[in-house]
Amino acid sequence: MNLPGNESSRGLPPVAGLCSFAEAARAGLSVETCVQRLKRFHYALRRLHQIFTARITAEPLYELKTAFSLHAYVCAEHVAALRTRVGEMREPPLGLEAVPDPNLEIFFDEILGAPSTEELVTGLYEKALPALVAALERHLVDTNHLADYPTVRLCRFALLELADLIRFGRETVRCLVDESARCGMADWLGLLDRCLAAAGGLDGASTPAETRIVRQHSARPYVYDGKPRRDGRFPDPYNRGVNAEAFIYNEKLPPAPKMLMLFFRRLREIEIPEMMASIITETKDKPWGYYREMSRQLWDEARHSLMGEVGFVSLGVDWHKAMVNATYALTMNTRLTPLERHGVLYFVEQGLMAKTGKRYEWEVALASQNPLASLFQDYDWADEVLHARIGRDWYLPQFKNTQEALKYGDDRWNILFTNWKAWRDQGLTQHRNWWPDLYQDACAKWGVAPDPVVLAYAETYEHKRADLKKVPSTSGTE
Ligand SMILES: [Fe+2]
Ligand SMILES: [Fe+2]
Repeated sequence: MNLPGNESSRGLPPVAGLCSFAEAARAGLSVETCVQRLKRFHYALRRLHQIFTARITAEPLYELKTAFSLHAYVCAEHVAALRTRVGEMREPPLGLEAVPDPNLEIFFDEILGAPSTEELVTGLYEKALPALVAALERHLVDTNHLADYPTVRLCRFALLELADLIRFGRETVRCLVDESARCGMADWLGLLDRCLAAAGGLDGASTPAETRIVRQHSARPYVYDGKPRRDGRFPDPYNRGVNAEAFIYNEKLPPAPKMLMLFFRRLREIEIPEMMASIITETKDKPWGYYREMSRQLWDEARHSLMGEVGFVSLGVDWHKAMVNATYALTMNTRLTPLERHGVLYFVEQGLMAKTGKRYEWEVALASQNPLASLFQDYDWADEVLHARIGRDWYLPQFKNTQEALKYGDDRWNILFTNWKAWRDQGLTQHRNWWPDLYQDACAKWGVAPDPVVLAYAETYEHKRADLKKVPSTSGTE
């Protein structure tokens, strides 16, 4: 068959379906220009990852804590993809740690240092993410889709996920930022626009504007705030009055109320993102694989917390009756070094791999005959196996052997339990036993009479840790 040289056979899509001949024949960006832009995308996503992570702990709103956890993870994944792509483009040394433009640095510093949630979400979701999306879209317009296919693929995947982030963000801004708040931040939003203009756009593809940039929220260097804050649904954050594990592991107690306690345990995991955010923020100069995997784990823990919330919602039980404490994150973030915090996390997660750990929780959920609880525990277990591996890869190599690494975490964990009496004596909490309220609420929904033995449960964390080990005798000497 004789075809003219500019047609495909039998009308089939040409160029492997990527684009038309005409589009594939158009000169696009050189490798050098492409890499310059990729480095800016990389920088933007890296800074976004940093901001989302750093602002989890002290952000009071539960919905934002969990969304920031997800958004940090998404950014970490795209950072990894961009690093790989830059490495494929004749670019040693990669120079990925360099700041590509001082005005971009100010732009992200300003958002990192935003003094209020309103400014933070407006800066992130109305300025930074849309600027990144515009830059990625422009890359798809400017580059040759055949020659630069691997970058095109990467940009398209990034755009898919960034659209989700922006959708969440727009809705959040609509809920949180009223007209007067917007007026109050108008100057600052103008500063963000000028930073981008002075940088020639996020991708540097436009002519840089001549404009004077004066730092506002970043005039002083950002200081990470490691004190967890919670919204009004968490009124008693020092409460350690109900020992959930001692309940779940008590073989004499029935499975249905244990399922409630499992949902509580999941919900309470919001402390782990609050704590892991401090490790990631305060641990510098690790390979990107460290931040990527730790961010994946952080998001998993936020997801586990959301499973707890959804569990209660599905039962119609008011989870606000459970006092979700924040003392684990508070004590770890304010009294331990990042490595010590990682040690505690490692110790706890290795313990979950025992027969009495995640498998047992899943079996309890199965016995409760609640399919959602079984499903959540099934995935929770799978996630924790991954986390144990992440701990082995990133924490363990810093020690001579496993025993030493475990002991390091175990010893530090005891510190978390030395404040129980002190918090009560200082009037921070009464460690009120909230269990009967929650259990009675669930019984009313189930249409059953409370079991008197279950209703009378009153074991606290005063003498027993979450792994049921005895609290050392130094406790209460804060
Ligand atoms: Fe978890
Ligand atoms: Fe975990």
